[in-house]
Amino acid sequence: MTSSPAPADRAAALRARIEDANRRYHQLDAPDIADAEYDALVRELEALEAAHPELASADSPTQRVGAAPAGRFPPVVHAVPMLSLGNAFGDEEVVDFARRIRERLDRDELVFSAEPKLDGLAISLRYEDGAFVQGATRGDGATGEDVTANLRTISGIPQALRDGGWPKVLEVRGEVYMARADFERWNENARLHGGKVLANPRNGAAGSLRQIDPKLTAQRPLSFFAYGVGQAEAGALPATHSATLARLREWGFPVSELATVVRGVDGLLDYYRRIGEARDGLPFDIDGVVYKLDDYAGQREMGFVSRAPRWALAHKFPAQEQTTVVESIEVNVGRTGAVTPWALMQPVQVGGVTVTRATLHNADHVARLDVRNGDTVIVRRAGDVIPEVVQVVADRRPPDARPWSMPAACPVCGSELVREEGAAAWRCSGELSCPAQLKETLFHFASRRAMDIEGMGEKFVDLMVETGVVASPADIYALSRDDLLLVRLVLDAAPEDVEAQVRTHLAAGQEAAAAVAAAFAPQALQAPDWDRHVIRALRQGRAAFAWNEKKIATRAADNLIEAIDRSRDTTLARFLYALGIQHVGESTAKTLALWFGDLELIRRLPWPLFKRVPDIGGEVARALGHFLDQPGNQQAIDRLLERGVRIGGAHAPDPRLGEALDLATLLVDLEIPKVTPVRAAQVGAAFADAQALLDAPVHNLVTAGLPSETAAALVAWLEDAAHAGLLLSGAQAQARLRGLLPQRAARAAGPLDGKTVVLTGTLSAMGREEAKERLEALGAKAAGSVSKKTSLVVAGEAAGSKLAKAEELGVEVWDEARLLAFLHEHE
Ligand code: IVH
Repeated sequence: MTSSPAPADRAAALRARIEDANRRYHQLDAPDIADAEYDALVRELEALEAAHPELASADSPTQRVGAAPAGRFPPVVHAVPMLSLGNAFGDEEVVDFARRIRERLDRDELVFSAEPKLDGLAISLRYEDGAFVQGATRGDGATGEDVTANLRTISGIPQALRDGGWPKVLEVRGEVYMARADFERWNENARLHGGKVLANPRNGAAGSLRQIDPKLTAQRPLSFFAYGVGQAEAGALPATHSATLARLREWGFPVSELATVVRGVDGLLDYYRRIGEARDGLPFDIDGVVYKLDDYAGQREMGFVSRAPRWALAHKFPAQEQTTVVESIEVNVGRTGAVTPWALMQPVQVGGVTVTRATLHNADHVARLDVRNGDTVIVRRAGDVIPEVVQVVADRRPPDARPWSMPAACPVCGSELVREEGAAAWRCSGELSCPAQLKETLFHFASRRAMDIEGMGEKFVDLMVETGVVASPADIYALSRDDLLLVRLVLDAAPEDVEAQVRTHLAAGQEAAAAVAAAFAPQALQAPDWDRHVIRALRQGRAAFAWNEKKIATRAADNLIEAIDRSRDTTLARFLYALGIQHVGESTAKTLALWFGDLELIRRLPWPLFKRVPDIGGEVARALGHFLDQPGNQQAIDRLLERGVRIGGAHAPDPRLGEALDLATLLVDLEIPKVTPVRAAQVGAAFADAQALLDAPVHNLVTAGLPSETAAALVAWLEDAAHAGLLLSGAQAQARLRGLLPQRAARAAGPLDGKTVVLTGTLSAMGREEAKERLEALGAKAAGSVSKKTSLVVAGEAAGSKLAKAEELGVEVWDEARLLAFLHEHE
């Protein structure tokens, strides 16, 4: 038989749990349950004590405020105790609160000060003769901690009062908090550089204030709002709380703009609703609003009950943090290939919204929190920020929960997920083949410095991808004129006239007419993605429609078809850049093209070989390797070539590559632990080739002169089959490359070797970019501005200041005709 525990046992259990939570929250700044759960425990205990008065006791946490100071700072006895507030979670409790005051004071209408309830840390600031002399935390309400030095670092807290007219002794009460933007910025930085990540702004504020070293506090972005007065001696305060807030403002304290005066219960509930609506957009966290009877005479008459005033009430909002259970940890792939882990959770209400997903930011964050499947976690949703998991409730972990690790493959395209050394982010290496990255890939692919397809802007790419017209870069080269016309037509028309446009331009058969009718239903056109809807519907009905050739404006679509066609003939450098390989920008692409000369060579090259090129280091080489290792990327390249992309100007690799195609160099380029160039040279001298090294018994390495530690590191490295494979394929690639090298210098000395050329003005026969490429191919170095070092200026039509400068410096100047003649002669 099961039965609920005896009330006395339950009360004892609740008290123990609440005491523990208090200690963690107030002394350790490391709460382990969400606020909402804490509130529920306190309410249950209050109800139990009310129903069983014999269980009530003066030392129950329901009768006390917070927790006694932890002893880290000198104690401060508050001249006027710092009390807590009664909580209301529903309207009825607010109605009761107002009724109690009305009845006791025998008034018809009540005036309240209504204020946001900031979620930070309560402090008391003591001013004597207008000078800030001491600041303290709330502690247990009677005694707090002296954190004066830390409070002096907060710019919002005046060191001296302004204006005059203040009481000789004045204690100002208020909240130290961290603004959301400051909190986000702090955490972003901490996640990037491995600093302390704060669970929420309130913990951030509390933890910062309780630093022993004020310099640490000074680094944290803290703010302050004043909301009341404690002791006030030798000097009068106004008669109402709202007037006091106004005085506090005049004396130099920040007071929330949201504090206002309202009348009656309606005024209170209306304020609650208004602030609730504004909540997500506020720059700081609030957990409710506070109502205070405005006149001090009434407040005095109402008095206190145990730990809270009867004249004030905190009306809580739905909690911004809740506890729930992680069902699984998934990863999401962004537009740029960045991989973000997130938690799928049991549905929970957070800040008034049902939440089932929360971000885990990055793999380091998951490791730091040690979140696992099945864990109970605290989720936070505040403002416009996406919900995040901020903490694991350690003692509720299922016994079989295993640590999480990043999956090996992209959940979208199956390519390998890779992480760069030292970086927090993981990336999908399926740059060309990952649907998650498709829009970004296409947009980059078509851009001016890549394949240069004019007319494929971002909006156009978005539409084509979302309507399924294009699913990979190669699809661009199979685009039908129909599809282009359709996308362009819809893109260029407004929703109210797209139907008329389509009817004008389409000679629709029956099937297409039905598609048109469906696509142009009023509700369909009101949807935010109406254009996608229309395109999809019309494509489905396409079999039966034909473009009305006489009326349709085909120019834009024809231009695009032409631009796509033109882009087919390209250079290796442009093509490599267009692939969007991580870390391969325009200049790296040019270097690769210059040194290797041929796509087929490059796309089969193991990554260590890329390091043979000056300026290409391990990071770029590995990125190239990851990209080329993905079958999806290789297929995408195949398809581009099949669809007619032609890469001109293939040439033999640069002979300088031949300078270091040996085993020793390969071992260094493989970045094997402990294998320095000196050690690699010893191994290179001792073994005929890579296979001999793989076959050698360990002691041969030592005989070759390697210290035993290095030998052990090399053997351990080679034991990994993938490493051994890479060594062999590296050696084979070296041999292949050797065979491709020209016997003599690859290129006869260029006629423009060592010359610096500046292009200016407009050329008629070619673009400036093309001219630049052709001159570079003849050995020239292109520069952007004219100086004494310039060897030659090519001036087209309407050349301006650069031409003038060249003439002034006496630099040789060519016109377009001279350039064309020169190119004709030397190319
Ligand atoms: S008045 C006697 N006003 O809420 C009344 N408190 O449980 C004392 N708080 O930690 C508090 N905003 O720091 C008051 N506008 C406001 C407040 C506010 C936040 C905090 C306060 C304390 C808790 C009261």
